[in-house]
Amino acid sequence: MSGRVVIVGSGQAGVSAAFKLRALGYQGHIALVGEEPGLPYQRPPLSKKYLTDEADVERLHIKARALYESERIELRADSHVRSIDRDGKQILLADGQSLRYDHLVLATGATPRCLPFEQGGNAPNVHTFRTLADAERLRTGMKPGASLLVVGGGYIGLETAAVARRLGMEVTLVERDTRILGRVASAETAARFRALHLANGVRICEGVELKRLAHADRNGKTAWLANGIAIDADVVVVGIGVIAQTGLAEQAGLHIDNGIVVDCGGRTSDPFIYAAGDCARFPYRGQQIRLESIQNAVDMAETVARSIVGGSAEYRPVPWFWSDQYSTRLQIAGLNLGYTHVVVRNTSETACSIWYYDGPRFIAVDAINDAKAFMSARQWLSAGRSPAADAIADPGVALNAVPLSNIH
Ligand code: APR
Repeated sequence: MSGRVVIVGSGQAGVSAAFKLRALGYQGHIALVGEEPGLPYQRPPLSKKYLTDEADVERLHIKARALYESERIELRADSHVRSIDRDGKQILLADGQSLRYDHLVLATGATPRCLPFEQGGNAPNVHTFRTLADAERLRTGMKPGASLLVVGGGYIGLETAAVARRLGMEVTLVERDTRILGRVASAETAARFRALHLANGVRICEGVELKRLAHADRNGKTAWLANGIAIDADVVVVGIGVIAQTGLAEQAGLHIDNGIVVDCGGRTSDPFIYAAGDCARFPYRGQQIRLESIQNAVDMAETVARSIVGGSAEYRPVPWFWSDQYSTRLQIAGLNLGYTHVVVRNTSETACSIWYYDGPRFIAVDAINDAKAFMSARQWLSAGRSPAADAIADPGVALNAVPLSNIH
């Protein structure tokens, strides 16, 4: 297998595609082109431990430098791709160079939504964060006793709030929706995380929109809410979701619909171009979805690598995701899209799980400090089995004794 593969984007999906190609025996040239400087790194620790830990950056690296050399993966860091020339099968870089490809992989990820200018989004102490550079900038403002305003009650906002409280900052979190975790989790799960954060001293304001930041001093110090509450904030972190990076693909005329649309083998509307990770929208149980997680980045990139080497790859994931807040670990298996009801299983004072059903069909779980529930749920989802809801609700019934049915 020879030829040239060019991968645009050196996040988890890009790196996984490159190394998987080699693992599958691809012998051609592989170029991995990334905008960020340095070696590709893992993002999940950035909103967790890394925000306060002076941890070694090397521990974040997805692969050591020597591995790029030994696997003959040409890493072009700090390199911006300007456009794709589909007719000429090449990409054009900002520095004027071009790279020819037989197969192109777009792993361009997503970019954080920013607070609009009118709301003070451009103030120097307002941070969005996704990259290592963002986390390092933010870290300089994370100091005991300083005040933090978190805008957005998704996982980014909640994880940042937890880190800041641990550090001894004053934390207020503002969520525009009627409750936190509205996009990703049930009210039952949200209630547990609300209680956790309140118990740890976070002030949570739900159903409240930030109206504007008033620049009390050069650093923009005070934030006013729509309902008239004023909040002092030395630092503001904005975690209000991400937008798929589809600009290059769009410019090249590929099919886009809230993400680069691909088939189950990761192919875009151009058979020589693939997409994987946060930027790609793929078929899942009769719908088209986009997922933002490590699992999705790795598994989808590996599917793309298989497609490139000529296998009949199909991406049929059982999604999983995790979040660490204080000493609580949340593990999610499956996707709760279109759930009709949830069943709560209270395993102990600190452990519980929230099971999502679509009618009789089990589709996802949020396991809170309950690794056993997470593991069982993953197995059942992979096997297309649904646990009986009444047994799930009864913690007296061991998970391995719960009756299962085949409901697809
Ligand atoms: N003011 C306050 N809250 C807002 C505003 C606003 N102007 N706009 C949106 N929100 C709220 C949303 O209602 C939602 O609850 O911000 C929250 C954002 O949550 P997510 O969409 O889940 O996004 P975020 O937490 O930023 O995570 C982005 O990073 O780690 C990954 O898995 C994570 O993929 C996700 C991504």
